[in-house]
Amino acid sequence: MSIQWFPGHMTKARRQIQEKLKLIDVAIELLDARLPMSSRNPMINDILHNKPRLIVMNKSDLADPDMNARWLKLFRCEGHAAIAVDASTGSNVSQIPVEARKLLEEKIQRQIAKGMKPRPVRALIVGIPNVGKSTLINKLAGRSVAATGDRPGVTKGQQWIRVGTEMELLDTPGILWPKFEDQEVGYRLAATGAIREEILNVEDIAFYALKYLASQYWDRLAERYSLEQPPVDMDNPDEILNIMEDIGRKRGCLMGGGRIDLEKASGIILRELRAGKMGRITLEEPYSFMVE
Ligand code: G4P
Repeated sequence: MSIQWFPGHMTKARRQIQEKLKLIDVAIELLDARLPMSSRNPMINDILHNKPRLIVMNKSDLADPDMNARWLKLFRCEGHAAIAVDASTGSNVSQIPVEARKLLEEKIQRQIAKGMKPRPVRALIVGIPNVGKSTLINKLAGRSVAATGDRPGVTKGQQWIRVGTEMELLDTPGILWPKFEDQEVGYRLAATGAIREEILNVEDIAFYALKYLASQYWDRLAERYSLEQPPVDMDNPDEILNIMEDIGRKRGCLMGGGRIDLEKASGIILRELRAGKMGRITLEEPYSFMVE
């Protein structure tokens, strides 16, 4: 699903989240593990302000396991609580209430010391479209409560969902807008299907993905499409184009005169990348300043 974001939408989305933030103890910032930086809202620190935050890298089943570990390490080095989950199967989702509670441990201990009975931690899931917010809410609830494909600006009566004894979750997520200012971010988001292909040219998106795959995951690419030679110069567009044509030829994407239908080949590459047919792939590396 996709949303065309305009400044008015952003202001409204932000206002709606800020209303919800008043009701909760912890914000769960949902990111796509395949692109943890590009799937981040550009104003998230400003929006969440001082609210305790748990970073949850979703779709970790589709992302490179080594990279998942490195990204988690980076977020933790930055002082955030962070975990990786797969909301579609529920893998590691049970850690969310545990980690959310940990963030409030001091407050809870103070309440206990005063003889108060602490109430469950109240949480809100926030993230850009398609990152898996509704899937995660449904998984945490153990039933279908959130309609996938929620839209910003569509309000309905919100309710608390009880997640075990430790947590209560708002049944409607906070929907945030993605980054727009950087074209590379746009390509990465489009490569995973997070933003509409029509916004960017499908061949450009596939070209971008192919260049990245050729440089970072050549063996996987070569195996999937029986490719022989890695490009000699990754910065030479002709070499990347040759790979695209080779894939197109092998997959029967032909036009009249023996020409390759690059649009069709691009569609195949992107579909297979998104479906994990080339294995688990992360499209961006943690920053180089990360402590190893
Ligand atoms: P949203 O509320 O944040 O917009 O996202 P939503 O839950 O609708 O999830 C978007 C797509 O991502 C869904 O696929 C969903 O099944 C998939 N998804 C969510 N979490 C995970 C995960 O941890 N792993 C994997 N592999 N997939 C996940 P869909 O219904 O097929 O939609 P689409 O792919 O056609 O957009």
